[in-house]
Amino acid sequence: MKVLIVGSGGREHAIAASVAKSPRVDKIYCAPGNAGIGQLAECVPIGAMEFDRLTAFAKEKEIDLTIVGMDDPLVGGLVDVMEAEGLRVFGPRKNAAILEGSKAFSKDLMKKYHIPTAAYENFDDAEEALKYLETARFPIVLKADGLALGKGVLICNTLEEAKEGVRSIMTDKKFGSAGNRMVIEEFLTGREVSVLSFVDGKTIRIMTSAQDHKRAMDGDQGLNTGGMGTFSPSPFYTPQVDAFCQKYIYQPTVDAMASEGRPFQGVIFFGLMLTAEGPRVLEYNARFGDPEAQVVLPRMKNDIIDVCEACIDGTLDQIDLQFEDNAAVCVVLASSGYPVSYEKGYVIEGLDRFDGADGYYCFHAGTKQTEKGIVTNGGRVLGVTAKGKTLKEARANAYAAAEWVHFGNKYMRHDIGKAIDEA
Ligand code: AMP
Ligand code: GLY
Repeated sequence: MKVLIVGSGGREHAIAASVAKSPRVDKIYCAPGNAGIGQLAECVPIGAMEFDRLTAFAKEKEIDLTIVGMDDPLVGGLVDVMEAEGLRVFGPRKNAAILEGSKAFSKDLMKKYHIPTAAYENFDDAEEALKYLETARFPIVLKADGLALGKGVLICNTLEEAKEGVRSIMTDKKFGSAGNRMVIEEFLTGREVSVLSFVDGKTIRIMTSAQDHKRAMDGDQGLNTGGMGTFSPSPFYTPQVDAFCQKYIYQPTVDAMASEGRPFQGVIFFGLMLTAEGPRVLEYNARFGDPEAQVVLPRMKNDIIDVCEACIDGTLDQIDLQFEDNAAVCVVLASSGYPVSYEKGYVIEGLDRFDGADGYYCFHAGTKQTEKGIVTNGGRVLGVTAKGKTLKEARANAYAAAEWVHFGNKYMRHDIGKAIDEA
């Protein structure tokens, strides 16, 4: 069969690598893709938001399955547009992708269906939000309602900071129209865990857990980024935590969406905080995490095509989702200066070391094929993933492999997976 993947990051490279393993697949296309994905798929220069061109391409090439990796096209309704033309697409429709597209929606959903999350208020008006802050407790968390490249969350320690935050989100529109509404919520403390799941509208199958590292610098210092590394599984995601989440969070979320007339088919990503009072939902995403996918998918035993089709067909209850009994760590190699400003265009050397190195992966995020070879083309450049029998072994392997690759201005965190030592 022929598969089209929509997106261009490390997550889409990890999806492409899983798809390439399926004996059912003859040909993979990726729009727009990147230099690494180009080694597994034919990349086509169509942007993820060019819905009409994507649909026309899928029809022309008789694509059997399209997998949408990114949030923007999902929230914008790409799945609906393609389905209207009779195409088979893995990912939530627009009315379900709102689970990620509007934080106010997701908070109201959790409140209505008693799904544990931080206490909150939604605001459409800056004046109301500023008034509310006068009597609030600090620290407090401000969230732009819409998509903001993972940067629309501000943790404010003082009233002054919070007022400034409200003005930047709602008045100055720092995150654009994402800030037309906002959520103000209680600050929670605890360990964070990312749990991805497959959903077919009624059944949910949980993947193995992972943990992201969002800050740019060692010791969780510096600015928030798209993610500087991940490990899987999380040793803090115990059977007790899983039992709680199965009962109070996962199935209740799927049922809530169905009750609202918004059946969810695709991947739900649960961003959880393990607080002293129990697990709480910090956020939902309507897609695989990036870089969580880079440690979760390499450990999945199932054929990803079988699972995606079961989500579309409503037969996920017949799938026994299985993961390898090992661990994986991903270290992101970034351009120094990310996420603020950085130079691009440096030649990347050492990529061929990964060819045939079993259990090692080099997922491309910001790279480009040029006459000089493959060059850096973004803030996050590569995600180096390695497996190991244990988390510690996987971490040692990933950091060893991170040294195989060289490029100008290469930057990485050196403490990805440090939390493993505290487990
Ligand atoms: P989000 O995009 O909603 O996942 O938020 C980004 C990051 O902000 C999360 O990964 C957390 O580290 C932090 N965060 C979000 N909500 C809260 C909260 N209520 N309390 C503490 N930290 C939070
Ligand atoms: N790693 C967090 C995200 O994909 O949103």
